[in-house]
Amino acid sequence: FKYDLPKNEPILSYLPCSPEREALENEIKRLSSEVMEIPLIIGGKEVRTGKKGKVVMPHNHGHVLAEYHMAGPEETQLAIEAALKAHEYWSQVSWVERLSITLKVAELISKKYRATLNAATMLGQGKNVYQAEIDAACETIDFLRFNAHYISEIYNQQPISETGTINRLEYRPLEGFIFTVSPFNFTAIASNLNMAPVLMGNTVVWKPASTALLSNYILMQIYKEAGVPDGVINFIPGKGSAIGNVVFNHPMLAGIHFTGSTVTFNTFWKAVSNNIGKYRSYPKLVGETGGKDFIFMHPSANVNEAVIAAVRGAFEYQGQKCSAASRAYIPQSVWPEFKTKLQGILHELNMGEPTDYETFVNAVIDEASFDNIMSYIEKAKESDKAEIVAGGKGDKSKGYFVEPTVIVTSDPHFITMEEEIFGPVLTIYVYPDEKFEETLELCDQTSPYALTGAIFSADREALNTACRILRYSAGNFYFNDKPTGAVVGQQPFGGARASGTNDKAGGPFNLIRWTSPRTIKENL
Ligand code: ALA
Repeated sequence: FKYDLPKNEPILSYLPCSPEREALENEIKRLSSEVMEIPLIIGGKEVRTGKKGKVVMPHNHGHVLAEYHMAGPEETQLAIEAALKAHEYWSQVSWVERLSITLKVAELISKKYRATLNAATMLGQGKNVYQAEIDAACETIDFLRFNAHYISEIYNQQPISETGTINRLEYRPLEGFIFTVSPFNFTAIASNLNMAPVLMGNTVVWKPASTALLSNYILMQIYKEAGVPDGVINFIPGKGSAIGNVVFNHPMLAGIHFTGSTVTFNTFWKAVSNNIGKYRSYPKLVGETGGKDFIFMHPSANVNEAVIAAVRGAFEYQGQKCSAASRAYIPQSVWPEFKTKLQGILHELNMGEPTDYETFVNAVIDEASFDNIMSYIEKAKESDKAEIVAGGKGDKSKGYFVEPTVIVTSDPHFITMEEEIFGPVLTIYVYPDEKFEETLELCDQTSPYALTGAIFSADREALNTACRILRYSAGNFYFNDKPTGAVVGQQPFGGARASGTNDKAGGPFNLIRWTSPRTIKENL
């Protein structure tokens, strides 16, 4: 059986009077006029612990969208048992059936739940309509369909057989359960963290981000409707420490699929290492973590293109993409023009509610994030090595709003050039034109991360030089484009160094991590 390479899901326009806009507005109205109750789902059953948390709108934190039940150690244990029980069945189901169910999830999102998932992502995670559409709808669907194609490529890869023997590879799921921990910033990533191992025949215990529960719970309902059997995905919102302790001590922990901070992923490695003698198999740790992504401009580059890339790369979704541009290197000769154009565009950007179609910048996700971002802006205000040339203000009275902020620094190692901020803050270092190569070296050595980066140049030689010097500085490297917005199947996504294990989500490298192949030789 072969499932051919699919096309990417088209991005809908949401023009006034379009059917997609009408459907979206109905769902926005519905979801914002109720307080959803979100239970745990263990072995297909709803579990209510009574220990509750709230999901609020980032742009209006007085508005509660949902109340969710939190898992503790006991429910975590039950979720693991349910995953192991479901493994007995699911790991024997034919891969073609798993592929059909995966494609059914994609169809349901494309045709039936697009508006619901987009509305939940807009209201709960603070995305404007375009950002929600390219994430919750298109990228989620693309992950499912492209993985369906890649599994058929993988399963059809078989060893050679000589006359008188048959050799084959049996792509077994891992022996045990997979622990998935998903971030708030992409509904698509939350979905893929689960559905990639599930497609490969595994069962999971899923700890979603508490700030993304509205969309994530809707995903659970879609999975069920598509035919993902009970117990294959066990949904346990709650505190990481309470859940983690039980998971890391369990002998059948077979893998971790994670997107989130480097600090958290490091604690997972340490916990696994502390328990290493306990496990049936070496757990596979797959993670996409932090970034300090850059835009590097050569003097030959088109200034307008670089400015637009800086605005979009740094400020779309409030800079809360792991791929967001958060530092830039601009040559002295073009800096005055770059600065004037950048300030001009930023002056025109609308900040406001995600449901307003004119809004470019919305609120950041929560108070902890707001405070953290503002603390970096304060450091820039206090330093004599930094100047704020755009934005700089924040207001959390109603929603967690931070203005798109541009810091210019004379110190290439200034704290906001080095540390991940995860908010709408871009720091620029203006370099002498003749020091192009030295500044590329500096860019490589400035941060421990290596997720995304972009080089702008009209000169091929300069592109090649940047590609050579920055060889390990980014897992996704863009020539004359912003460093965000990787499309599944087109720009496989992931980085190395402190940015993760670089297994490229939505592709064969990632899927192979969720299989433990057995070689079978038969003499005829
Ligand atoms: N895949 C997302 C992007 O490229 C994170 O922006």
